[in-house]
Amino acid sequence: MQELQQILDQALQQFAVIGDEAELEQVKAKYLGKEGSLTVLLKGLGKLSAEERPAAGARINQVKQGIEAALQQRRDLLQQNKLAQKLAAEALDVTLPGRGLGTGGLHPVTRTLERIEQLFHSLGFATASGPEIERDFYNFTALNIPENHPARAMHDTFYIDPQHVLRTHTSPVQVRYMEANQPPLKIISSGRVYRVDSDATHSPMFHQVEGLWVDEEISFANLKGVVQDFLQRFFEREDLTVRFRPSFFPFTEPSAEMDMSWNGGWLEIGGCGMVHPNVLKHVNIDSEKYLGFAFGLGVERLAMLRYGVNDLRLFYESDLRFLKQFN
Ligand code: FA5
Repeated sequence: MQELQQILDQALQQFAVIGDEAELEQVKAKYLGKEGSLTVLLKGLGKLSAEERPAAGARINQVKQGIEAALQQRRDLLQQNKLAQKLAAEALDVTLPGRGLGTGGLHPVTRTLERIEQLFHSLGFATASGPEIERDFYNFTALNIPENHPARAMHDTFYIDPQHVLRTHTSPVQVRYMEANQPPLKIISSGRVYRVDSDATHSPMFHQVEGLWVDEEISFANLKGVVQDFLQRFFEREDLTVRFRPSFFPFTEPSAEMDMSWNGGWLEIGGCGMVHPNVLKHVNIDSEKYLGFAFGLGVERLAMLRYGVNDLRLFYESDLRFLKQFN
């Protein structure tokens, strides 16, 4: 029975220095496992006489319980240590000053778009929209630009497949809207457009605002009035004037580039014209009865002028130092 005491002492000593849970379980097997020293002793009870057996059995069990208790104690301690280490590693210093909440703001181009829409709404224009992935038909063909027509080369186009493009302008919305509605029509449509184009004043993705007014007695004079009125309000300058330069768009006739007076000179801000009879024919609007004007403005150009930004690419570099100035 002295042997039992030795086993217990040895087990307690061993457990006390183990720092790892897996190792503890391995050492446990040395005593309580199938071949463990206590298990062997228990198996040996059969060889003892009937008188000796109860006392020896009780003693072995006592030692077994002692070992199990020590084992459990060590397990608990190791787990506690592990938790304490984890807590220390993840500690939060609640006395540090807060980082503060940054307030978000609208992108300058979004602000500009909202301002443009608001002003046109006040001039009686409703809003329409169309898809950015557009059918070649709406982007070109229905706008009087048939296949292989050289005018297609005016737009450097991103093709999705032979039938679909990333729209190169907002003009396809005109066609979609006229297909679904009868005159009188008075809408604007704004959104992203795409061209293979990139320099300080051209971006591969940019925004346009399209305007369309179709009614029985619409003339170039109405177009000039609307555009000038809009620009004067947009730039808050009553002395601002608009100039029309003859130009060519397949979907308008006559067509013009619109320039506005700026710092003693002229700046181009978009294209316009009277809706071409062929475009009206495509959407079954009687071109003998109705006339209309359309225009397309570059939104980034307007934002650059309003905010004094000299490189369009700044809008899309996501540099917060730049963007924060608008909020
Ligand atoms: C058009 O896109 C015609 N759809 C406009 C139009 C509408 C004419 C209705 C007649 C009737 P244009 O390609 O000129 O036209 O583009 C219009 C404006 O978009 C330009 O004046 C310019 O302000 C802007 N723009 C054109 N390309 C870019 C670009 N890559 N980056 C930024 N702005 C651009």
